[in-house]
Amino acid sequence: EQIKKGNYDHFMQKEIHEQPHSLTTTMRGRLRDNSVVLGGLKDHLKTIRHSRRIIFIGCGTSYNAALAARPFLEELSGIPVSMELASDLLDRQGPIYREDTAVFVSQSGETADTLLALEYSLANGALCVGITNTVGSTLARKTHCGVHINAGCEIGVASTKAYTSQIVVITMMALAIGADKLSTQSRREDIINNLPTLPDKVSDVLKLDVQMKDLARSLMQMQSLLVFGRGYNYATALEGALKVKEVALMHSEGMLAGEMKHGPLALVDETLPIIVIATRDACFSKQQSVIQQLHARKGRLIVMCSVGDAASVCAGGSCRIIEVPQVADCLQPVINIIPLQLLAYHLTVSRGYDVDQPRNLAKSVTTQ
Ligand code: G6P
Repeated sequence: EQIKKGNYDHFMQKEIHEQPHSLTTTMRGRLRDNSVVLGGLKDHLKTIRHSRRIIFIGCGTSYNAALAARPFLEELSGIPVSMELASDLLDRQGPIYREDTAVFVSQSGETADTLLALEYSLANGALCVGITNTVGSTLARKTHCGVHINAGCEIGVASTKAYTSQIVVITMMALAIGADKLSTQSRREDIINNLPTLPDKVSDVLKLDVQMKDLARSLMQMQSLLVFGRGYNYATALEGALKVKEVALMHSEGMLAGEMKHGPLALVDETLPIIVIATRDACFSKQQSVIQQLHARKGRLIVMCSVGDAASVCAGGSCRIIEVPQVADCLQPVINIIPLQLLAYHLTVSRGYDVDQPRNLAKSVTTQ
């Protein structure tokens, strides 16, 4: 087992640091000049473009990955994109139609609720697309078509490298679906040209490891941690908080910053740590005003911002800063989750918990 971990103490740590490589293999052979080629989808693109709705279905981290990529898919396809947690879709027996494209996202391809939601969607006549890391999995076999994320085997129970590869695959899927639209051509080309630079940016952000270890030490005694995000990075807030709760066994909630005034603001005091994601995108000024409002209530802030923005995001109060490299808006979630994965990892080690086998959790939940 130690041999498989290489120079790392834990699989989760190894898998976090592997991401420049896993993202490279996810994209390998799929980016041609100004176009994206996804062999597993190409015969179905026309049907997808004509669907009346695209529905993402998954659980846990896989659901969060789809949520991170949703805005870009909506933008490029012009098709309404809805989100379903597999168990909730089953509980409600929610409507699924023949004109729908249902996209199932699952690292293992074996999660019971996701597979049951697949059976349900097949029975209702939807086109079913699978996005998985596991060749030959039930999901890969039972869907009509799909894309493998090719992130390599993931062993740590808390998903890390699969998350970033899932986001990149869904982003590439959006580029392929939108490829027939002239109006978004330059936007698509911009992202296609940016994708190959992502692994190097991920290597850069991984250099925050020591800083995140230090932050983890300062937070290790805390009872609770909030993470505020919005837009492309609402999913980052949910996923960062999920990592902290599942491995570090610390209460943590990801929140939509736009909902702050509708409840969460009541929790703010001088002790509760709050991470605010405020990297540059169309929501930046709204996040600046969130930070000001939290400062006014003496919140204990940790702000994630783009390199060079530290002074401007924190004007008017004191806060800790996590500076991350800036990339294209729809790719920023891939960068922003990495300091939070590192934080969750170091929090777990400093709190003395099992990183790779968190209490009560399984890598693949194959029963309902
Ligand atoms: C479990 C794992 C999570 C994972 C979720 C969905 O809860 O602990 O890390 O995100 O299942 O798994 P899947 O294999 O369907 O992506």
